[in-house]
Amino acid sequence: MATATYTLGDFIADLDRITRDETSPHVITERVAPLLAKLVKNPGVVPGEFRRRPQGQPRGRYMLHRAPRFNVTAVVWGPRETARAHNHETWGVIGVIDNEIEETRYRVEEGAQAGRATLAVKTVMHHTPGAISCLVPGDEVHAMHNPTDRDTVEIHVYGKDLSGLKRKTWDADGTEKPLITPKYMNC
Ligand SMILES: [Fe+2]
Repeated sequence: MATATYTLGDFIADLDRITRDETSPHVITERVAPLLAKLVKNPGVVPGEFRRRPQGQPRGRYMLHRAPRFNVTAVVWGPRETARAHNHETWGVIGVIDNEIEETRYRVEEGAQAGRATLAVKTVMHHTPGAISCLVPGDEVHAMHNPTDRDTVEIHVYGKDLSGLKRKTWDADGTEKPLITPKYMNC
């Protein structure tokens, strides 16, 4: 017997319920992770126009659903595209739909010098379709890299709208820089 496809609407309803009942990032991400794992198996979950990059752009970023307590976005990483170490200021759950992504997690040790930190690599992970990665306070600084020659498509779920949110990124030498993500490409 065929099982019913888990849709974006189902996922949004579940996110609404989970974030209404829970405020702990650890509990929220623990509950959302298996649901996102189910969602990314739905081949039609991200419409075709949001599975590709705008011409000439290294990345695609599209809002699929914006709500007060969470948002759901589609992210496309072009071949060899990299986002250096950065933070998120909220919880996150990331699921791979197509191709693969390399994620490096860091431990940030603030130094004596303001604006300078030491970033120690905690783990380097290779995520393939169906893989889920959770970001929680204390473990949410990462770099992302598409090591392949074709686009990688993911769904990202965050507890805040990242567009316009004041975040941080770090150079390889630990120099801290402000990071503000522009608005999404479809809204
Ligand atoms: Fe990130």
